[in-house]
Amino acid sequence: MRILIKLSGKVIDDKEELKNFITSIKKLHKNNQLIVVHGGGKQVSSWSEKLGLKTIFVNGLRVTDEKMLEVVISVLCGLVNKKLVFEFIKNNLKVVGLSCIDGKIVETNIEKKLGFVGSKIKKVNIEIIKILLKQKFIVLISSVGIGDGKIVNINADNISYALAKQLKVDKLIFLTDKQGVLDKENKVIKELKISQIKNLINRGVVTDGMIPKLNSIKDAIMSGVGNVIISNNLNSIGTLVKK
Ligand SMILES: Nc1ncnc2c1ncn2[C@@H]1O[C@H](COP(=O)(O)OP(=O)(O)O)[C@@H](O)[C@H]1O
Ligand SMILES: [Mg+2]
Repeated sequence: MRILIKLSGKVIDDKEELKNFITSIKKLHKNNQLIVVHGGGKQVSSWSEKLGLKTIFVNGLRVTDEKMLEVVISVLCGLVNKKLVFEFIKNNLKVVGLSCIDGKIVETNIEKKLGFVGSKIKKVNIEIIKILLKQKFIVLISSVGIGDGKIVNINADNISYALAKQLKVDKLIFLTDKQGVLDKENKVIKELKISQIKNLINRGVVTDGMIPKLNSIKDAIMSGVGNVIISNNLNSIGTLVKK
């Protein structure tokens, strides 16, 4: 099977969670091709704070001016990606870390209102990923790409959808800090139909980063990705999203 996992920056920061994640990856890598797209919003926020930059989110997306973009590139493509690559290597996993600039993996439009932020995905180039998967490498991808000829910050959920579609993955897993999508009583919604998403957002049950996540999931399912899961653990299903 070919599996794409979107790994939250929140999971990366938690030592115990990261250990569990790597253990699951080791098992999965025996019989599957693995692509991991990682975020790192938490790490970007903490470094921008250290540098005295203000963090602003609009509908779960980070406003990214020129200075913030430098932090985003440094933290996501550098610190977070390389630390993760090294964690995999320490565990004897065959892995390569890339950004979406490398091999021109993702090209987007630019969301001018938000600054250097990629909006609609225009082009996906999976050539380099396919070469690496064939050689049994796990591909670890950071969410920085090219938008209208500039380097842009792209929501990692959105990238995961676009790559899952192009790579025709058998499974798409969003690993986050919540057990799944929670209803208004904070209970996990075990099965979610994409027709319910709009309503959950309108009623304010789903907010913040869960908005771009569910919108990306909707796009993924509409474009034929079959098996989409949101969970905080690779061994449990959490929320299964269906057509
Ligand atoms: N209904 C909901 N169910 C679960 N999480 C939600 C919901 N509404 C908002 N959220 C928020 O969305 C967050 C996940 O999105 P985000 O912060 O972008 O993390 P990630 O790194 O996984 O993308 C959760 O931590 C939670 O605070
Ligand atoms: Mg997010």
